[in-house]
Amino acid sequence: MSDFCPEGVCEGSGWVLDEAGDARPCGCRRQRINRTTSRRMGTGIPKRFRGVSFDRNPVRDLDPLVLDRVRRFTRRIDENLEAGRGWWFTGDVGTGKTSLAMLISKAAIERGHSVAIYSVPRLLSDIKETYDDGSGHSYAALFRRLCEVDLLHLDDLGAEKRTEWVLEQLYSIVNERWQNERSIVGTTNLSLEELREQVGPRTVSRLTEICGGPPMPIMGRDLRTTSASPP
Ligand SMILES: Nc1ncnc2c1ncn2[C@@H]1O[C@H](COP(=O)(O)OP(=O)(O)OP(=O)(O)O)[C@@H](O)[C@H]1O
Ligand SMILES: [Mg+2]
Repeated sequence: MSDFCPEGVCEGSGWVLDEAGDARPCGCRRQRINRTTSRRMGTGIPKRFRGVSFDRNPVRDLDPLVLDRVRRFTRRIDENLEAGRGWWFTGDVGTGKTSLAMLISKAAIERGHSVAIYSVPRLLSDIKETYDDGSGHSYAALFRRLCEVDLLHLDDLGAEKRTEWVLEQLYSIVNERWQNERSIVGTTNLSLEELREQVGPRTVSRLTEICGGPPMPIMGRDLRTTSASPP
């Protein structure tokens, strides 16, 4: 646990002593719990994206209008998550979608919200793994956490193999979050029509409502091939 208290009160323990000498939770304790939950969920912010910032490439050189809207969303992250508002991006390979979505997740984590970051194929394989447990307990626990976390980050929607089981899993998670007005941030290489075909119209309809409209298109070239430096 960090020995830093963002409120400058508890010296990082998460607890303060009152006048009677009883321990009571510090104002920073909820943020600490959420950070720990975020670390336990999914993969956390992957190494490649830990330094993601509006001031650095690949983000800095993206369309200024896109950056302006994402920046405004991150500045109001508390109220956006409170209202269950999310965001999603679509576009070709390597255009910067995941970087933009990570900026939103990073802003949420910095404000002390719990965030679960998953690529969708990885999420589905984690769900499958809980089946091996046999008791149904770990599946229920994972499902509950996916539904309760303040922000669920679904990277690469539509990259998964399409089966009835997959459609059902994605629908259950998205529907549960939609019902409870909880936020989702997502990325996909697919158009809205392709996405309806791949993950099902009911899931896409709910995602569209959570994210306030169809996915934001991110145009451009593949930044991986154009920025790669020789070994
Ligand atoms: N100038 C740069 N500095 C650092 N990284 C860069 C730069 N330009 C491009 N990149 C790289 O570009 C990649 C593309 O960004 P990102 O992964 O966000 O794209 P994407 O749209 O999510 O791609 P995909 O559809 O394949 O998932 C990043 O992984 C990053 O490593
Ligand atoms: Mg990506």
